Amino acid sequence: MVNSFHTPVLTKEILNCLDLKKGGVYIDCTLGGGGHSKAILENIYPHGLLIGIDQDIEAIEVAKEELKIYLDKIKLVKGNFKNLEGILSGLKIKKVSGIIFDLGVSFHQLKEKERGFSFKEDSRIDMRMDLTQRFNADILINSYSEKDLAEIFEKYGEERFSKKIARLIVIERKKKAITTTKQLADLAIRSLPRTKKRRTWRIHPATRIFQAIRIEVNQELRALEKGLNQSIRILENKGRVCVISYHSLEDRIVKNLFRKAEGERKEQRDYGLKIITNKPIRPSSEEVKDNSKARSAKLRVAEKKIFIT
Ligand SMILES: C[S@@+](CC[C@H](N)C(=O)[O-])C[C@H]1O[C@@H](n2cnc3c(N)ncnc32)[C@H](O)[C@@H]1O
Repeated sequence: MVNSFHTPVLTKEILNCLDLKKGGVYIDCTLGGGGHSKAILENIYPHGLLIGIDQDIEAIEVAKEELKIYLDKIKLVKGNFKNLEGILSGLKIKKVSGIIFDLGVSFHQLKEKERGFSFKEDSRIDMRMDLTQRFNADILINSYSEKDLAEIFEKYGEERFSKKIARLIVIERKKKAITTTKQLADLAIRSLPRTKKRRTWRIHPATRIFQAIRIEVNQELRALEKGLNQSIRILENKGRVCVISYHSLEDRIVKNLFRKAEGERKEQRDYGLKIITNKPIRPSSEEVKDNSKARSAKLRVAEKKIFIT
């Protein structure tokens, strides 16, 4: 299913793993253009309920249109999945049958110049998923200390030249504020050692820096931990949580959290998780051929288990 807002990834696999039930309540924590939600609704409608959450109002508006024929069986919420339990109690719902997370940004966010996520086109640097948030990438780059910049490039970008780039940013911003994606991308190139400056990169030198800034601006990893922990609590027995991640930092959090919850019994809780995917599910070569953005996707799935004592 190709969609100009966002083409959903691993859709067939998500449907298989969710183990959909007639009358079930499902949450799509990352609604985007509504691609995954639509696939779920095609399988459960006219029964059940789909709750779609996104912190980007533009996603909510597009998904509302995309899902309009299912309107009596959907609830769309503009919010952050780090507040999952609060969102659910606002809807007066206690337990759900399945939850999906399709992490990161949508194609729409990446390609819309004004959203300032991409160095492929020159625009004002911004990177907020939630447009009501004040803190953005411009504020970050022009106010963080050299040490803090280097730390986020290292931690969230796993960037080899973190310190050099941070130093260069601090020197350059004293002359002129860094406000555009091109300015920042050029600094990433300038900070490379001379031998690496030739234009034969496999990935653009700014890629990791942009990833790190985006993660910090949107506090993505913290939100993921909070959202996943709450998911385990709100799932009904045998309900499933499916997470698609796109880089190793996200995947590590999902893997470790699932493993910890699998061993939870030892910690004397009355619930835990059973891991369904020992190894993550990857997209087929056909899917990657049709949609190159799918190539780094990894799907992990776990099932809630309530222990009978
Ligand atoms: C990869 S896209 C999802 C695409 C969607 N599965 C589809 O089929 O169109 C990720 C979406 O999640 C949203 N998002 C990311 N982190 C979020 C968070 N913490 N809370 C709510 N929405 C979030 C982004 O705004 C973006 O629209």
